[in-house]
Amino acid sequence: MSLLKKTFQGAIKISIRSYSANTGLNKPPKILITGGLGQLGVECAKHLRGKYGKDNVILSDIIKPSTEIFNDGPYIFADILDFKGLQKIVVDHRVDWLIHFSALLSAIGEQNVPLAVRVNIEGMHNVIELAKQYNLRIFVPSTIGAFGPDSPRNPTPNITVQRPRTIYGVSKVHAELLGEYYHYKFGLDFRCLRFPGVISSDPPGGGTTDYAIAIFHDVLRKGHYECYLKPDTRLPMMHVRDALRALSEYLEAPNEMLQRRVYNVTSMSFTPEELADEMFKYLPDFTLSYKPDSRQDIADSWPQVFDDSEARRDWNWKPEIDMDNLVKLMLKEVKEKIIANGF
Ligand SMILES: NC(=O)c1ccc[n+]([C@@H]2O[C@H](COP(=O)([O-])OP(=O)(O)OC[C@H]3O[C@@H](n4cnc5c(N)ncnc54)[C@H](O)[C@@H]3O)[C@@H](O)[C@H]2O)c1
Repeated sequence: MSLLKKTFQGAIKISIRSYSANTGLNKPPKILITGGLGQLGVECAKHLRGKYGKDNVILSDIIKPSTEIFNDGPYIFADILDFKGLQKIVVDHRVDWLIHFSALLSAIGEQNVPLAVRVNIEGMHNVIELAKQYNLRIFVPSTIGAFGPDSPRNPTPNITVQRPRTIYGVSKVHAELLGEYYHYKFGLDFRCLRFPGVISSDPPGGGTTDYAIAIFHDVLRKGHYECYLKPDTRLPMMHVRDALRALSEYLEAPNEMLQRRVYNVTSMSFTPEELADEMFKYLPDFTLSYKPDSRQDIADSWPQVFDDSEARRDWNWKPEIDMDNLVKLMLKEVKEKIIANGF
């Protein structure tokens, strides 16, 4: 009995120690995700709930969740434009970490600039002030869209010229700089990763890299895809599993390891033509046509190959999913979604 007790206490001690080594806390962190019903939020909540416990990860958004999401773990309404509402949530739920996903993405932002300014810039002001007031660790994703036509495109290093030409990109450069400023001025634990196009079977939110998701859905449903980018448009990409692993490894990295607050991360770069060639290996009969639209201009100003060597050096970032695995995973996951939805 006493041996059992000892082992049990030992196990508890080990798990507490591992939390404090990884998170700086002596318990699992309480995490709030804003904009959580988008492409990344739901998967992110699943990933972090697996690590820190279901009740420690609160998903929030301004839209009504499906029954499945509502039953999956804590879900609450949170409008990032309502500062007092956010204060109440942080206090009531004793939040430690904030993952700020709410945003209007590149293509959608160009269609409604005033709303993008409000959500992406005013929203950022609210969450960063909130994080400062309540001493939260705050993660804000940035993007390859934070670069522009004056930036070196192949490769694009961590530190270089950033003059984006979309409101999305401008708002993300603003977020990067504001976060760094709050870090140096107030000691805020601000952390930011610049993601490439993130590929998952969930519906994308209106970005320029969305073709790499839509092609799987259309080809599996209709046998054909019409691509809005030219066949040779090269962009950096990563599967959602790599993106979420990068996010959680970076969130857990001790402050002493971080020489920067904003890091490029990526897994691969490809063109629509190269992606289709990889897909033909598994689905030889689909057809593809090209009809470039305004998203081509955005893609032409973005990085083609992303240099993430600083993330690899400082906190040991390493992608795991290459293009062949990405295609296999997407074919499997999108097929499962189509079967589950009944069409
Ligand atoms: N998906 C990608 O490929 C990608 C790549 C790089 C960076 N990112 C960044 O990751 C984050 C998440 O991306 P995503 O693809 O999940 O975006 P998404 O567009 O799918 O989801 C954004 C969510 O924000 C919510 N939102 C809008 N206004 C809000 C408000 N006032 N208050 C609270 N929530 C609000 C929306 O309802 C939506 O659910 C974004 O900041 C995006 O810039 C995404």
